[in-house]
Amino acid sequence: MGKARLLVLPLLLAALLLTTAWTGQVAIVGPGQEGVSGDFEIFTWWTAGGEADGLNALLEVFQERYPDVNIINATVAGGAGMNARAVLKTRMLGGNPPDTFQVHGGQELIASYVVTGYMEPITFLWEEEGWLDVFPQDLIDMVSYEGEIYSVPANVHRSNVLWYNKAIFEEYGLEPPETWDDFFEICDVVEADGITCLSLGDVGIWATVHLFESVLVSELGAEGYQALWNGELDWTSDEVKGAFELLYQILQHVNEDHGALSWDQAVQLVVDGEAAMNLMGDWAEGYFTSVGWTPNVEYGWVPSPGTAGTFIVVTDTFGLPLGAPNRDAAIAFLRVLGSVEGQDAFNPLKGSIPARVDTDRSLYDEYLQSSMDDFAVDTLVPSLAHGSAAPESFGADFGTVMSVFVATGDVDLVSSAAQQICVANGICQ
Ligand code: GAL
Repeated sequence: MGKARLLVLPLLLAALLLTTAWTGQVAIVGPGQEGVSGDFEIFTWWTAGGEADGLNALLEVFQERYPDVNIINATVAGGAGMNARAVLKTRMLGGNPPDTFQVHGGQELIASYVVTGYMEPITFLWEEEGWLDVFPQDLIDMVSYEGEIYSVPANVHRSNVLWYNKAIFEEYGLEPPETWDDFFEICDVVEADGITCLSLGDVGIWATVHLFESVLVSELGAEGYQALWNGELDWTSDEVKGAFELLYQILQHVNEDHGALSWDQAVQLVVDGEAAMNLMGDWAEGYFTSVGWTPNVEYGWVPSPGTAGTFIVVTDTFGLPLGAPNRDAAIAFLRVLGSVEGQDAFNPLKGSIPARVDTDRSLYDEYLQSSMDDFAVDTLVPSLAHGSAAPESFGADFGTVMSVFVATGDVDLVSSAAQQICVANGICQ
């Protein structure tokens, strides 16, 4: 070894030691990290407490791994994507896609974007990352079409959860309701003292549709609910009409200003002790966490009345739009999203359980652990209000019909209108 090389080696070692001392760790450049830079636009509707926290935590992991990427966190406020989805559609149709965007697994992804040719298959990524072995087949099916996979599930949310204020329940000696009859009895007690029984924030009508899907499952059972989406059960059937009638009775027990509130403002009514209960997907759990509430301390939960054993699945996914301006960064982001680290950064704050089955359970609170347990054994059915059960066109028209129903309570009108929409969307004969 020559003298020059003898000198260079200690210098290199010293430099390495210095870097280590300064950053606390040796920078390790993993596969795919080199050369990923530039603007990266991610499009979601996650602006409320809990949702935004989860997204930020996920983006932090991404930024750490890909420090040269400039993240553009594009959000359009409005629960369930009530505004964002329209903006997205315009952009996609106009050939101006973001690099990746939030989309529900199931019909919202497949019918709106995959069949119509707006997405690139990412089966290669699933194979490279070994995800086929660590995501449940039910979820893989929701993001697949004709043998190709089109997105990466970030999470699993449960739609049919009833949340309640524990202090109120303790004060009045109440037990959480198992049936809608139990629910109405609780309403009699709390309303006598001026407390709203069920808070609702349906400034976007989706929140009433959300409530209704729980009512449908309670009245039809998981099988009957599924039969609606196979076109085997008519919307004009007595069972469905019964569900509309029940919904109308429930709506007599919500806050008067429900049409002016968003979903998180409705959850806040429970936090403030102005309402006893709220029926919302478990992004409400993320909201409770964001205001410092702890499960089984300040709030409790049960499956929405009459739905124990059924898990209405909502899954947020992200894919690769054809023509994504920064395809490399989008793929890099999807790798992070599907990783254990990404899922475990996002989900404990978001109020959802990880889509992967091999993550660190100890990072999840008592509610989320109970949701993991239920997800593993319950009958899984897709959400109507959150894009999985039926195409977006059905959901949009159904929302209009639901607005009429909230105002009129006309069961015959609403059920025959729903049947027409079902036929028009090719679901029913
Ligand atoms: C759902 C979405 C959830 C949550 C919720 C309220 O559609 O899947 O992640 O964001 O809307 O905005």
